Amino acid sequence: MSEIILRVENVTKKFPVANKKFLTACDDISFNVRRGETVAIVGESGCGKTTLLKAIMNMQKPTSGKIFFHGVDITQLTGEDKRQNYRNIQMVFQDPTAAFNPKMRIKDIICEPLLNFDLIKKSEVENKARALLAQVDLPPDFVNRYPHNMSGGQRQRVAIARALALEPEIIACDEATSALDVSVQDTIIKLLVKLQKEKGVTYIFICHDMALVNLFAHRICVMYLGNMMEQIDGDKLDGARHPYTRALLKAVFSTEQEKNQYIEILPGDIPSPLDIPAGCPFQNRCLHCQEICKQKKPAFHELEQNHFIACHFPLEN
Ligand SMILES: Nc1ncnc2c1ncn2[C@@H]1O[C@H](COP(=O)(O)OP(=O)(O)OP(=O)(O)O)[C@@H](O)[C@H]1O
Ligand code: SF4
Ligand SMILES: [Mg+2]
Repeated sequence: MSEIILRVENVTKKFPVANKKFLTACDDISFNVRRGETVAIVGESGCGKTTLLKAIMNMQKPTSGKIFFHGVDITQLTGEDKRQNYRNIQMVFQDPTAAFNPKMRIKDIICEPLLNFDLIKKSEVENKARALLAQVDLPPDFVNRYPHNMSGGQRQRVAIARALALEPEIIACDEATSALDVSVQDTIIKLLVKLQKEKGVTYIFICHDMALVNLFAHRICVMYLGNMMEQIDGDKLDGARHPYTRALLKAVFSTEQEKNQYIEILPGDIPSPLDIPAGCPFQNRCLHCQEICKQKKPAFHELEQNHFIACHFPLEN
């Protein structure tokens, strides 16, 4: 196994809301990221994925907890140290159109981070942008285009080229393929996998689509209502034992299933994050809930080697 480069330790993020209340978007989250791996963070809308990523990107300070990058707690960095740390972890967003300045040409968009860190001169922008476009399989003459003259898939390739520019150790993708057609989504995933093989880049891939992450993630972290429910190796996902993970897997549509086969949908609604019940956060949707689940929150613990779970009654394999 490769070395751990990022350790998220007991990260909690609470937002102040109306009536002097707090909304807990992430509750005591811990996980490791190893060099060259893809760690997927999966869960339904509002479960705290983006909040967690913003903490890792140092865009938002956690309420408590630590995030170590090569042993340094990046939540404590300030000033120039904090600015330099942005070079290590770059981000690809769901909607690159919103992230790009529509008046900037592609070459300037891609090379902006390099200029910000004084790593190239203005005269080098054109050539550098061409080289970066080649890495994401786009023609070099795209350097002079504007973002609106490209398809969604091409814009996302530009976003990846821009993220690669600083040669970061980690690229964090927040629903980076969710807005794309399935066929385009597939080509972007293939590109990410190719870049990982070539450059050894590490990905944190945030997604609500279990079927998609199952295709290429080395490690899968399942979140629900701000809590980490299960962590398991991607190639062992069939052995997931948390009722929520199993429900997500059952809801995955397979091309091999029978035409009239019933697709199981999770019953019930996600409780309000302002009113999380005592005990297990998944209790009102869990078919295996028992009395203790309503009283005592299950501890996140190692069930088998490298397989972590927060459940009083893990399902049998
Ligand atoms: N700045 C904020 N102030 C108050 N609440 C916030 C803030 N940012 C996020 N939240 C809340 O925190 C919770 C987690 O939000 P987050 O955006 O992290 O979820 P997500 O898993 O990324 O959802 P999605 O899949 O829809 O992007 C939500 O209930 C959200 O409303
Ligand atoms: S702790 Fe109880 S309610 Fe929660 S997932 Fe496990 S069995 Fe279901
Ligand atoms: Mg989000």
